[in-house]
Amino acid sequence: MGQETEFKKLSNLAKNMGLITEREGETLYNLAKNGPGKGAIVEIGSFKGKSTIYLASGSKAAGREKVYAIDTHMAWKEKGKTRAGIYVPKKGAFKFFLSNLRKARVEDWVVPVKEYSHKANEKWSKPIRLLFIDGSHKYLHVKLDFLLWEPFIAKGGIIALHDSHEIESVKDFGRKCPWIRGPKKVVNERIIKSKRFKNIRIVDTITIATKIKKEGAFSRAENSLYAFWLKERLYMQRFRKLLVAVRNLLIKIKISLIIMYHLTISPNTNVGRLGIIIKKISPRLYYKLRKIKDEI
Ligand SMILES: C[S@@+](CC[C@H](N)C(=O)[O-])C[C@H]1O[C@@H](n2cnc3c(N)ncnc32)[C@H](O)[C@@H]1O
Repeated sequence: MGQETEFKKLSNLAKNMGLITEREGETLYNLAKNGPGKGAIVEIGSFKGKSTIYLASGSKAAGREKVYAIDTHMAWKEKGKTRAGIYVPKKGAFKFFLSNLRKARVEDWVVPVKEYSHKANEKWSKPIRLLFIDGSHKYLHVKLDFLLWEPFIAKGGIIALHDSHEIESVKDFGRKCPWIRGPKKVVNERIIKSKRFKNIRIVDTITIATKIKKEGAFSRAENSLYAFWLKERLYMQRFRKLLVAVRNLLIKIKISLIIMYHLTISPNTNVGRLGIIIKKISPRLYYKLRKIKDEI
């Protein structure tokens, strides 16, 4: 099959599967098929598999390396439709991903890694020839992905960061494109200002660069320390979020118990002090609460 026909097929198939543009998909395909070096292809952030399918199709067409597709596949906070009008499943995101890979006939060329990227990194040891970063877009998270994964890229290998450059069609979705800020800052700090990358180019929102030099021992140590600190911060943030969620739940339970108590406390009228007040302000709300209480 000619490349044009292959791209048409992929474009039709993957139209509603994700958040990359066709040009970006074709670039990933070409990098996976014809890109320099030897080593694994690693993708951070697969979502429903659009970029994974382009990467895997390219690599498969040339009989080259498999794609390690890292994603937690947990439900996103934003439910329903995303900025690109793509449906986000509340549950079972992983099922969508696998079924899309099957539709594209690349399930044999993808190794799904259902984990946080920093967790997957702890078990990783192979050289990488193509790293595509499109996971969490928060600045510190993108930075952590860069610090943890970039050292594995072989000399001459490629790094590509999605959403690191604004384009008009993407701007339309939101005034300030907040999701661009994190990746863009990391690209500026770690790629553009560095002397270790060359041939820096942009395709739609993706910045692509070729790694020409490994880090020196000193900055490697410095970066490892920094990544360690970022990871600890991340764990603390998650722990704090958990504590806040538990506290909120306890508060809700307490408030519900107080309401139920006050609705039923009066022995004569079966209407408590709070019930009397609520009934006066909004009889409808009062009867709703009574109904809930009776159902419990
Ligand atoms: C923008 S989407 C990826 C879009 C995808 N590349 C495409 O072509 O449609 C970001 C994905 O990253 C995943 N993600 C976010 N933070 C992550 C993390 N720390 N580790 C692994 N995956 C993460 C989310 O679950 C989500 O599916």
